[in-house]
Amino acid sequence: MKLGAVAPATVGALAGEFASAHQSQPQNQAPPSPAAPPVATTNPAAANREHLLMDFGWHFHLGDANDEKADFDFGATSAFAKSGRLFTASRPDFDDHDWRALDLPHDWAVELPFVNDPALISHGCKPLGRAYPATSIGWYRKSFEIPQTDVGRKLWINLDGVFRDALFALNGYFLGRNMSGYAPVRYDITDVANYGGNNVLVVRVDATENDGWFYEGAGIYRHVWLEKSDPLHIAHGGTYITTETLRTGAANVTIATEVQNESDDLQTCQVVSSILDESGTVVALTRSAPTDIPPWSTVEIKQQLRVPDAKLWSIEEPHLYRLQNTIERAGVAADEMQTMFGIRTFRFDPDTGLYLNGGQVKVKGMCNHQDHAGVGSALPGRLQEFRVRRLKEMGANAYRTSHNPPTPELLRACDRLGMIVLAETRMMSSTPEGLSQLERMIRRDRNHACIFMWTLGNEENALQGTDLGERVCRTMKQTAKRLDPSRPVTVAMNGQWGKGFSRVVDVQGFNYMSAGSMDQFHAAFPKQPAIGTEEASTLSTRGIYVNDADRGYVSAYDLNAPRWGSTAEAWWKYYVDRPWVAGAFVWTGFDYRGEPTPYGWPCINSHFGVIDTCGFPKDNFYYYQAQWTDKPVLHILPHWNWEGKEGTEISVWAYSNCEEVELFLNGMSLGRKPIPPKSHLEWSVNYAPGVLLARAYNGGRVAVEVQNETTGTPAAIRLMSDVEKISADGQDVAIVAVSVVDVQGRVVPTASNNIQFSIEGPGKIIGVGNGDPSCHEPDKGTSRSVFGGLAQVIVQGTKDSGEIVLIAQSDGLTPARLSIVSAAATPRAGV
Ligand code: GAL
Repeated sequence: MKLGAVAPATVGALAGEFASAHQSQPQNQAPPSPAAPPVATTNPAAANREHLLMDFGWHFHLGDANDEKADFDFGATSAFAKSGRLFTASRPDFDDHDWRALDLPHDWAVELPFVNDPALISHGCKPLGRAYPATSIGWYRKSFEIPQTDVGRKLWINLDGVFRDALFALNGYFLGRNMSGYAPVRYDITDVANYGGNNVLVVRVDATENDGWFYEGAGIYRHVWLEKSDPLHIAHGGTYITTETLRTGAANVTIATEVQNESDDLQTCQVVSSILDESGTVVALTRSAPTDIPPWSTVEIKQQLRVPDAKLWSIEEPHLYRLQNTIERAGVAADEMQTMFGIRTFRFDPDTGLYLNGGQVKVKGMCNHQDHAGVGSALPGRLQEFRVRRLKEMGANAYRTSHNPPTPELLRACDRLGMIVLAETRMMSSTPEGLSQLERMIRRDRNHACIFMWTLGNEENALQGTDLGERVCRTMKQTAKRLDPSRPVTVAMNGQWGKGFSRVVDVQGFNYMSAGSMDQFHAAFPKQPAIGTEEASTLSTRGIYVNDADRGYVSAYDLNAPRWGSTAEAWWKYYVDRPWVAGAFVWTGFDYRGEPTPYGWPCINSHFGVIDTCGFPKDNFYYYQAQWTDKPVLHILPHWNWEGKEGTEISVWAYSNCEEVELFLNGMSLGRKPIPPKSHLEWSVNYAPGVLLARAYNGGRVAVEVQNETTGTPAAIRLMSDVEKISADGQDVAIVAVSVVDVQGRVVPTASNNIQFSIEGPGKIIGVGNGDPSCHEPDKGTSRSVFGGLAQVIVQGTKDSGEIVLIAQSDGLTPARLSIVSAAATPRAGV
C-alpha cells in the first residue's frame, strides 16, 4: 500500500522504538542474552543506522520568565525574524561554562524545597507555577560532534519525554515546540546539522503550567537519542506486528513495515524479516519481493511468517520474540531494526471478562503515577523494573499508566516480567494536538506484548456524557484503530455511564463502584464488556496505626477511604462477585507526590499507595497478596512496640489465605479462628510487651508462622541492596534499603534516627527517601531520617567499574558498610 508523500519529520513524528544496527540492543527490550549470537540474515555491518544515547554531558540553568536577562533574551528579541538567529542561549557561541553540568534523566522539581502554599498542594508543594517564575523555567544545552562522514544520512533527535512546554533549537535553528509533558517528540536535524564539527542542542523547558493534578516533575526527565539512518529506512514507529495463534501450536505473525525513501531517487528494496526466539535462534524468515519506493514516499510492505511451536507470552511465562527487520538495497543492508514482541491473544467477553491466550484473567491491577522517592520523575530504567517486581510480588497482574503515556523502560519491564498494561494518553481531545499525542504513544508502543488496551482519557466530567464528548471519543477511537486495530479502547469514566463516551468505547471503564452504577449499567447494556479503571483510593500510612491530622498520617488498618473510594476488602469482594467485570485497577500501587488526601500540609504526598514512595509495603499489601497469590501468606498488624500502653486493648489484624489462624501473646493462645472469605481476622489484645505470634493452618497443619516482637532501642544500621552487582554504564542503580535495628538485629518500627551516607568508589547517591508522607528533608541530600525504621538510598554507578561502598552512620548507632560491584558494561553507544 502506498502511503504517499512524506512530510518532513516534525513534532507529530515519534520518538525511539528501535535500536542501532551497530548496537545489538533493541530499544524496546533489554539487551539480548549474551548467548544470543548475531543473526546473519543479511550484512548488518552495512546497515546504516545508529541509535545513540544523548544523556551525558548537559549544561543546565534555571531561568526566569520574568527577567529577560535571566531568561537569556527569550521573549525580548526578534528571535524568529531570521532563521538561525534564535534567542541568545541557543546559539553555538553562547558561553555556558557557568551553567551546571549534569546528566539526564533530570527532574529539577525534585531538587527544589517544599513550600507551604495551598496552590501547590495537589502538585507536591514544589515552587512551580506563575507565582514562582525563578524556578519554573529550565534551560538545557548539549554540545556534540557530528562527523563529516554523516553527510548524506538522515539525522534525528528523539526525546522520550520532557516536562513540559519545551522549545528545541539546534545550532540556533528553531526545531519546534512540544507542549506535552509525556508524549515522545522527534526532530529531523539533517539539514541544520554541522557536519565535521560541533553542534549545540538547546531545550527551553517551561513547567509553569501543569498537564495533570498531581506531581509531574520538571525538565528532561526521560532519555534523549540521536538517531542516524540511510535515506532509505524503516519509517519511525513504522513496524507493526500482530500475531494469531493456531490450534496446531504454531502462530502466524504479520509484519507491516513502512519503508520510507527520503531521497530524490527511486529506490528498489527488499524487506528481510527474521524472527528470533529467546535463545537467539531464527525460527522464521521471509524476504519480500523487490519493491520500488518512489522518491520522498513511504510504502508499506506486509509479510506473514509462521512460527512453529510458538511459546506464548503470558503473565506467568512472558516469552518474547525478536523481529530483525532489514531493508536491503541491491542485496546490501541499508537499514535494520529490532523489535521485541510477544505471541498472545487478548479478548473481552461481556459475561466473563478478560481472556489471555484463552484463559480467564481477573485484572488485579494497580494505577500508578511515575515518580519515586529520591528521584522525582527522573527514574533510571532499573527503578522501573524494581517497581514492577514489587507489584508482582503482591500478586498484581496489571498496571495502568495513569494518567499519561509511559516511559519506554516501564513497558519493557512489563514485557519482560509479565505484567499486562492499560496505557493511557494524557490529553483527551480530537484536536490536532490531542490526536498527535495519542498517535505518538500508539505508534511507539503498539508492539509491546504487555499492552492489552488503550485508555483515551480519565474523568473528563465536562465531556463524558455529552454529544460533544461522543464525537471527540469517536475520532480518537478511529485514530487508535487506524494505528492499532488489534486492541480495544476504553475511557475511565466517573459518571454518565451509558451516554457520551459509552456509545463509543469497546470496553466500559468505571472509576469507582459508585453506588450501584455498575450493576445498573450491566443490566442496561449486558453486551458491553466492563472494567474497573480505578478503584479503592484506600488511605494508609506505612507503620502508623492511628489517624493524625497534625502530622498528616492515616492509620494503616484497612478502614480509611475518601467519599468516592473504599477499603481494599470492599472493592475486591465486589469485583470477585461479578464475573462480568474484568477486574479493576487500584488507585494506587505506589504512593506519589501530590494529592495528600485527606490532610494537607505538612503532608506532601498521597496516602493512596498500597506501597509507599520508596517501595516499602504497607499492611494492605499483604491483604492483596493473600487474595492474589497461591503461596501461603500470613501477616499480622500492628507492630508490637507500644511502650506506655501496657494493659490497653490493641486491635490485632491478620491477613492470610490459609484456612485458620491462631494468635499467641507471649506463648498464650488468644484463639484460633477460621478466616472469613476475602477478609481478615481481628483480635482485641491487652498489650504486654513480648512476642505476638500467629500461626496459619491448612488442613489442621501449620502452613506458615509469623511474629511481631517488641524490640529494644535503636542500636545499629543495616543496609541491604536489591542487587549485588550493577553495570558500570553511568545509569544503572542499586536500590538500598536502610533499616535501624536493635541489638538483636530486629527492625525498630518506631525508629526515626537521622542517618548520614557517604560513598567510596565509582558511584554516587542520586536520591534518598523514607516513605514518610510529611517529611520535608531533601530528596537529593546525603542524609535521611528513617520512618518506621526504614529509609532508602539510590546508588548510581559511574562509567568506571570497581567496588562501590556505601557507608551509613548516625550518632549512637553502629555504622554499616555495603559493597556493590560495578562491573564493566558494554557501553551503550552515545554522543
Ligand atoms: C480519581 C482520579 C485520580 C486521583 C484519585 C484520587 O478520581 O482519577 O487521578 O485523583 O481520584 O482518589
